[in-house]
Amino acid sequence: MTQTLLYTGKAKSLYTTDNPDQLLCIFRNDTSAFDGQRIEKLERKGMVNNFFNAFIMETLNKAGIPNHFVKRHSEEASIVKKLTMIPVECVVRNVAAGSLCRRLGVSAGLELNPPTFEFFLKNDELHDPMVNDSLILTFNWASQKDIDQMKKYAFAVNDVLKKLFLEAGLILVDYKLEFGHYHGELILGDEFSPDGCRIWDAETKKVLDKDRFRKEMGDVVEAYEEVAIRLGVKLPQVA
Ligand SMILES: Nc1ncnc2c1ncn2[C@@H]1O[C@H](COP(=O)(O)OP(=O)(O)OP(=O)(O)O)[C@@H](O)[C@H]1O
Ligand SMILES: [Mg+2]
Repeated sequence: MTQTLLYTGKAKSLYTTDNPDQLLCIFRNDTSAFDGQRIEKLERKGMVNNFFNAFIMETLNKAGIPNHFVKRHSEEASIVKKLTMIPVECVVRNVAAGSLCRRLGVSAGLELNPPTFEFFLKNDELHDPMVNDSLILTFNWASQKDIDQMKKYAFAVNDVLKKLFLEAGLILVDYKLEFGHYHGELILGDEFSPDGCRIWDAETKKVLDKDRFRKEMGDVVEAYEEVAIRLGVKLPQVA
């Protein structure tokens, strides 16, 4: 397979494959916070996120939510459909945490009913500012049809995953999704892993996501692995 590096993000690297419609996505151990201001390598994280993402994407696919995942390629890489990404992030929240608390002055842990939806522009230099439908249309980042579909899929993901996590004794607090076009069709891309969502233990409210890295709580990958195992993700055995 001839592979050319196409793009290196903060946590993943995308390579071309022999199939022009598909990319190899390598999940690296690099972990970043605060728009890339703090970066550390966390052993096993790439592998855990690759298996975690594969499990979630397959689950979403079975539930009728189209996404870019094709198959797992190795312990740290997967084959994905090559998308033309929409430069906005979609965030769904079930419980208040993080930037929502800072912006609106609400307490962390407040249940959000109905769940909320926010768009953020993907731009680290500008610290991913919040945007809305009007700005997305004016700056031509996506069409009204794309906007409607992103919202629909983002909440459909919530219906599937909230239940799945709760059955494992976990609260899916919030999550970030990215979408793109594949031959004209809008589908879910990027990744779903504890790097891009918040997960708390339902009983103890123990933090089991990237907030452990942001807040320097330690045992980051151990927490990701705990979530994976509780959800039934089959991880390779540690030697
Ligand atoms: N199927 C896909 N096809 C094309 N690009 C994709 C696909 N899935 C994800 N991407 C893009 O690849 C990059 C993934 O790398 P990573 O998550 O490490 O980047 P990031 O640092 O979070 O984001 P960015 O560099 O875009 O700010 C992101 O820019 C993401 O939008
Ligand atoms: Mg990313």
